[in-house]
Amino acid sequence: MKKYLAIFAFAILGQQAFADECSVALTGNDQMKYSLKEITVPKSCEEFTINFENIGKLPKTAMGHNVVIAKEADKMAVATDGISAGVDNSYVKPKDERVIAFSTIVGGGEKTSVKFKPADLKYGENYQFFCSFPGHASMMWGKLLVR
Ligand code: CU
Repeated sequence: MKKYLAIFAFAILGQQAFADECSVALTGNDQMKYSLKEITVPKSCEEFTINFENIGKLPKTAMGHNVVIAKEADKMAVATDGISAGVDNSYVKPKDERVIAFSTIVGGGEKTSVKFKPADLKYGENYQFFCSFPGHASMMWGKLLVR
């Protein structure tokens, strides 16, 4: 009986650790800086979530931020096309196939999140997360590593 209880407890704890691995907290500020330079995504997660908070004070129109995921090679083109898409599209061209996932644009004090399926990512590919607010992508980005 004790043995079964131990297995049961292990299963619950194991699941907990698994869930924690599948999300990460990220912030961005008025200095156009993200709090992380790198995010590691385990392939074993069914879904991965980046919970983002703009901890700045400025409004969305002046210093809005979002989180877009794409290959490093596509980043600048995605960001450039996003400028003409405008704030109503979160500065991401609608149906842009180069974009793996993106969040809405948020202003100071606001939160958003972006979810995607790690199964869609390839080992060895260079992915990045970045902000597509006009002019931010060259400063606000980090590496998205697939483990
Ligand atoms: Cu930004």
